Amino acid sequence: MRILVINGPNLNMLGVREKSIYGTKTLDEINEEITQFCIGHGIDADFFQNNSEGAIIDAIHGAINIYDGIVINAGAYTHYSIAIADAIKCIDIPVVEVHMSNVHSREEYRHKSVIGSGCCGVIAGFGDYSYILGIMAVMHMPENR
Ligand code: DQA
Repeated sequence: MRILVINGPNLNMLGVREKSIYGTKTLDEINEEITQFCIGHGIDADFFQNNSEGAIIDAIHGAINIYDGIVINAGAYTHYSIAIADAIKCIDIPVVEVHMSNVHSREEYRHKSVIGSGCCGVIAGFGDYSYILGIMAVMHMPENR
């Protein structure tokens, strides 16, 4: 099984940005932990991070016929990018939306996800472990069992 982990804007700044919310691990450190989990479960994981909406859309389109699932933390785009929502709806691959923080206990503008409508489900609030939970969710999708 191949899984693509997509991170959107400002997630390249993990370890530096708002540590009380996102913790102290860098994105590279988190990706290494995800890689170790995936190796243990026979999954091939690739990682993509970009701060631009268009690059994220291209990565989603590019996943067709390559990946069995996508785990995406679209950062702030989650809350307003109809273009990323449409890109997710273009592809026939299970997509799981993840957030490190519990977006529902934060500012009201973070409560709404526009990308969620194209996703199988949402995981939020478990820090860097949200990504592992997202991968487990992809593994357990009926088409991947
Ligand atoms: C986030 C939550 C978003 O609201 C925020 O804009 C982010 C990170 C999270 O992982 O908790 O950049 O997606």
